[in-house]
Amino acid sequence: MKQRLLFLGPPGAGKGTQAERLCNAHGLMHLSTGDLLRAEVAAGSPLGQEAEAVMNRGELVSDELVLAIVEKRLSTQAGGWLLDGFPRNVIQATALEPLLAQLKQPIEAVVLLELDDAVLIARLLARGRADDNEAVIRNRLEIYREKTAPLIDHYRQQGLLTSVEAQGSVEEICSRIEKSLN
Ligand code: AP5
Repeated sequence: MKQRLLFLGPPGAGKGTQAERLCNAHGLMHLSTGDLLRAEVAAGSPLGQEAEAVMNRGELVSDELVLAIVEKRLSTQAGGWLLDGFPRNVIQATALEPLLAQLKQPIEAVVLLELDDAVLIARLLARGRADDNEAVIRNRLEIYREKTAPLIDHYRQQGLLTSVEAQGSVEEICSRIEKSLN
């Protein structure tokens, strides 16, 4: 299976759920910028204090801050990895390219998880994280469409994109993803 992966998809599409399964099964590092930022918030660090209000509004944390987090982890990783929630806009995607070129670790596949808005909104409302109320979810979706969705074409043009239907059970979706990566 391909070893250097990126997950794209709207909030609630199941990126975190599927990334965790895939990484456990195949020994990849799961690099979720959302999880790393939430850990900083929980620890009350200066970085977490800076990020918390932005995250609770459903907006994007500064590129500089996120890039520093990712660079540190990728530079010390010898094996495979899965990027979940990063890059989130063209600036982050553009900054990632020279870093991966320098590390000689190019992306092997980008998996786009596709799901209807109604289903993902219901999933997120049922979860109830700090940024999972209806107004913030709508803002996250709008930001996804405006800033993140342009990356779909960016990676399609590079021949890296594979789309997976993200409706159904966790197991069904996982096996669709694995098939697309062989
Ligand atoms: P982040 O943590 O990345 O959140 P997100 O993209 O909004 O994604 P979610 O975690 O909500 O959804 P998911 O697709 O991972 O789905 P999940 O598996 O959790 O980002 C949060 C915030 O951090 C951002 O808004 C921003 O402020 C900041 N941030 C993060 N990265 C950044 C970056 N690079 N730059 C700038 N800012 C950044 O599943 C959702 C729910 O559905 C769960 O309850 C799950 O159990 C359930 N579920 C999953 N699969 C299924 C299924 N098949 N059937 C039924 N339920 C399911």
